[in-house]
Amino acid sequence: MTSTWFESADDAAGRLRAAGYLTDDATALTAYLAGALEKPLLVEGPAGVGKTELAKAVARATGAELVRLQCYEGLDEARALYEWNYKKQLLRIQAAQAPSRGSDATWDETHDDIFTEEFLLTRPLLSAIRRDDPTVLLVDEVDKTDVEVEGLLLEVLSDFQVTIPELGTVTATRRPFVVLTSNASRELSEAVKRRCLFLHLDYPDAEREREIVSSQVPGLDDRVAAQLVDVVVRLRELELKKAPSIAESVDWARTLIALQIGDLDEATVARTLGVVLKHASDQQRAIKELKLASG
Ligand SMILES: Nc1ncnc2c1ncn2[C@@H]1O[C@H](COP(=O)(O)OP(=O)(O)OP(=O)(O)O)[C@@H](O)[C@H]1O
Ligand SMILES: [Mg+2]
Repeated sequence: MTSTWFESADDAAGRLRAAGYLTDDATALTAYLAGALEKPLLVEGPAGVGKTELAKAVARATGAELVRLQCYEGLDEARALYEWNYKKQLLRIQAAQAPSRGSDATWDETHDDIFTEEFLLTRPLLSAIRRDDPTVLLVDEVDKTDVEVEGLLLEVLSDFQVTIPELGTVTATRRPFVVLTSNASRELSEAVKRRCLFLHLDYPDAEREREIVSSQVPGLDDRVAAQLVDVVVRLRELELKKAPSIAESVDWARTLIALQIGDLDEATVARTLGVVLKHASDQQRAIKELKLASG
């Protein structure tokens, strides 16, 4: 039987790489298992280490469509699952009652009519469940929602079904590949965790980061890439408010290209520090600790 997702950990690593996402062994293995076991994958880790990108890369690598539920405080069922299109329902009720049509539609008929597919607004969770084609469902930044949303997720993640009282139960004909991401700003419930495979993503080692930067910034000199990653690694060792992420390394590389810099010396680091450090206090600390000549 060929799987919709990956054949093995090596297959996952290779196809994700071809899709522009460079994994370590643990990530490739977990991505393979999430597909093979049809279990949601919870990815936790600091900002900018590739949590969201992993879900996108799985979609690219497997030719699946990405359905994304962006979580935030106050996200509710109506935004996550479905809601009824009240305005349209109202119009239909008014139309049914219009005397000019001489309509004698009973309330029961109208009621049956307005709680149908035509009046349903599907939101990401329901959309993902109903799709017949391969789907990656990304539930992004799940730690930002209120705990109640986890209850919703539980129904979806454990049975891959959604009950709509007026329409019945919708069961997935094909389970989506589910990725939940979290910055661990709060603990998720044990019930949610129990249903997921867990992957902790952290900053990559220097070699993989060089590879990521070089692959995303064509034309970057190998030596500059090595210098850049070296500084980024040192910056991450400092106690900063916000350590530079992979995204910042990539931005930095693009900056150096734009400035046509062929050697990342200390003066250049000091001059372009704003690309990687976004707090004044972090910049001051870096200048002091890395003994850079400021300004
Ligand atoms: N393994 C990787 N291979 C290639 N590019 C990567 C990889 N990891 C991260 N990136 C790059 O880093 C960028 C940031 O990653 P992403 O947005 O996924 O971070 P995140 O972990 O979701 O961060 P946040 O918690 O802030 O949402 C991506 O746009 C991608 O370009
Ligand atoms: Mg993200």
